[in-house]
Amino acid sequence: MSGAGRRRRPGYVAALVPSWIPALDGVEERLTAGARVADVGCGLGSSSVLLAEAYLRTAVTGSDYHAESIELARKKAADAGVSDRVGFEVATAQTFTGTGYDLVTMFDCLHDMGDPLAAARRVRDALSPDGTWLLVEPYAADKVEDNLNPVGRLHYSGSTFLCVPTASPSPAATPWAPRPARPRSATW
Ligand SMILES: C[S@@+](CC[C@H](N)C(=O)[O-])C[C@H]1O[C@@H](n2cnc3c(N)ncnc32)[C@H](O)[C@@H]1O
Repeated sequence: MSGAGRRRRPGYVAALVPSWIPALDGVEERLTAGARVADVGCGLGSSSVLLAEAYLRTAVTGSDYHAESIELARKKAADAGVSDRVGFEVATAQTFTGTGYDLVTMFDCLHDMGDPLAAARRVRDALSPDGTWLLVEPYAADKVEDNLNPVGRLHYSGSTFLCVPTASPSPAATPWAPRPARPRSATW
């Protein structure tokens, strides 16, 4: 198997197109007809490429504040032959460009962000009035003690010590403490 073949693929790869997109009201139809998608915090761009491969009339703009990831994402899109419809930019979730998106996606990244409320506000501004925000986060309980299982421990150690310190240099980085539990509600 080649090095690329051995590379880990995010867990959503098997679910995104067959089940998550169809679960959203009217989104599959829009993507099939041709839509504009912003994939925020896209990392290496797996989800951006996946969406472009599945929906041939749809254009995707992936963004991430980590420049080296964006460089690899561009390569991934080129290798997949979808660079004509998948663009990438180095930008934070608060500053990614564009408006009028039909769909904004965030996979496993909002919980890492220094200022998730500002990111959510930017998503609201970037969406068309009838657009959809697909937000996917690791499933976690709200109380620490309910996450003390192997998966919870993995996320607390990984997210707290690897993701959040790099993602949260800003002074705005605190009202939502770094933790892998899902936010229950927010006013945006
Ligand atoms: C766990 S990775 C998930 C990457 C990708 N969405 C995936 O599912 O493979 C979290 C990503 O969020 C990005 N990130 C964290 N804080 C960010 C911010 N404020 N603005 C943009 N990207 C951010 C990181 O650089 C990283 O690529």
